[in-house]
Amino acid sequence: VNFTMVTCTRAERTVLRHLLELYSYDFSEIDGRDLDAHGEYGYRYLHEYFGVPERVAYLFVVDGAWAGFALIQLGPPVDVAEFFVMRKYRRRGVGTMAVAELFERHRGKWRVRQLTANPRATDFWRRAITVPYTESSDGHEVAQEFEVL
Ligand SMILES: CC(C)(COP(=O)(O)OP(=O)(O)OC[C@H]1O[C@@H](n2cnc3c(N)ncnc32)[C@H](O)[C@@H]1OP(=O)(O)O)[C@@H](O)C(=O)NCCC(=O)NCCS
Repeated sequence: VNFTMVTCTRAERTVLRHLLELYSYDFSEIDGRDLDAHGEYGYRYLHEYFGVPERVAYLFVVDGAWAGFALIQLGPPVDVAEFFVMRKYRRRGVGTMAVAELFERHRGKWRVRQLTANPRATDFWRRAITVPYTESSDGHEVAQEFEVL
């Protein structure tokens, strides 16, 4: 797998918007969301990733094709707002490589969260976090906290 991660600039805003639609469609199995009147899910915070310095969007590229994204809120702690790998690229280590790349770029205290209703995401993060972490749950979300040195 030839994986690269690029910062999503305004020039790729439409790419991110479209990938967010695919992510939301996937997630609709969990959160039950429906399309709006325009036939879109939409993403309320999209604009913040092109103007608010604390928010950074990354796009994943596998063998030259768009393969997913990460939306990050810089901390401390660094917080992963959304994380997505397209279906055809899953279970090939793409998500793990993306997390490793994120840890390279953003050191310090981190926190990641998953909905309790999305246990496979928790399976993933437990594998992808390569440093010691503490885990907690409030019943709605599971969270891992750790430090990337
Ligand atoms: C969760 C997600 C990002 C994983 O991406 P991925 O590229 O498939 O992950 P990797 O291939 O790096 O997986 C690494 C390990 O995580 C675990 N894992 C990943 N997906 C899993 C699944 N569906 N079920 C169980 N374990 C899983 C496995 O241990 C896996 O290793 P293995 O394939 O050798 O068994 C991807 O499935 C996805 O985008 N899902 C929909 C969106 C989502 O839930 N995002 C997370 C929100 S917190």
